[in-house]
Amino acid sequence: MVTFYVLVLAATIATATLGNEVINPVIPVPRRRPGVILSENTLAKKVLVDFEVFLELNCPDSKVTWPVLKRVAQDFAPKGVRLTVNQFALPYHQYGYLSTLAYYFINNNNASLTVPYADAIFENIREFGLRSWTKTPIEMTKRLSEIAVSVGYEQGFNTTDILAFSGPVRTTWKYATRRGVSGTPWYFINNVDLGISSSGTLSYETWADYLNGLLMGKKI
Ligand SMILES: *[C@@H]1O[C@H](CO)[C@@H](O)[C@H](O)[C@H]1NC(C)=O
Ligand SMILES: *[C@@H]1O[C@H](CO)[C@@H](O)[C@H](O)[C@H]1NC(C)=O
Repeated sequence: MVTFYVLVLAATIATATLGNEVINPVIPVPRRRPGVILSENTLAKKVLVDFEVFLELNCPDSKVTWPVLKRVAQDFAPKGVRLTVNQFALPYHQYGYLSTLAYYFINNNNASLTVPYADAIFENIREFGLRSWTKTPIEMTKRLSEIAVSVGYEQGFNTTDILAFSGPVRTTWKYATRRGVSGTPWYFINNVDLGISSSGTLSYETWADYLNGLLMGKKI
């Protein structure tokens, strides 16, 4: 009988120890792989090249890069290049955080407006620069809402609505910084940090050559 109880006790402790194991990541793990996949509807079934970009909606270099990336996605998604765009709000852009919140709000409420909304914010980028520094967050949210209405999100939104997305914005920011992103545009291909930051932009032809090279190369 004594032996029996000792065994039961030992088993209980072992189970408890297992049950106490905790995975405790240093940053929150996003529920899904973050980002917006461009040209997802035409993406080949098999992803051969994973192209990940970090942009910011108030960043002039991101504005120049954005049409190039849209063209890359359009032409290369059918060939198996998955282009994912993440937003990385920069602390030295006064309204970057608000713009990113609004972008996630629109993406969540009507995904088909995500790209038109980004287009529209970039078109109006001057309004988000230093000259608008005097606008309060509420005033700037009103402006972001007007821009959303102009691309077809008729209801518009207010500060309360977009603040519901502070979690995803933060999680994406941490995801980015943990991987070494420190500016925009910033690129990863197949998880390798290309180390290209905000110092200028790259043409469509440059990306096309590079991606074609990867697509034609040997599989490891
Ligand atoms: C989403 O936006 C599209 C394009 O403007 C529109 O046709 C559609 O009705 C919208 N859907 C919702 C649920 O708002
Ligand atoms: C604005 O905020 C309130 C909460 O204070 C909310 O109930 C309302 O639906 C929001 N959105 C719009 C578009 O008015």
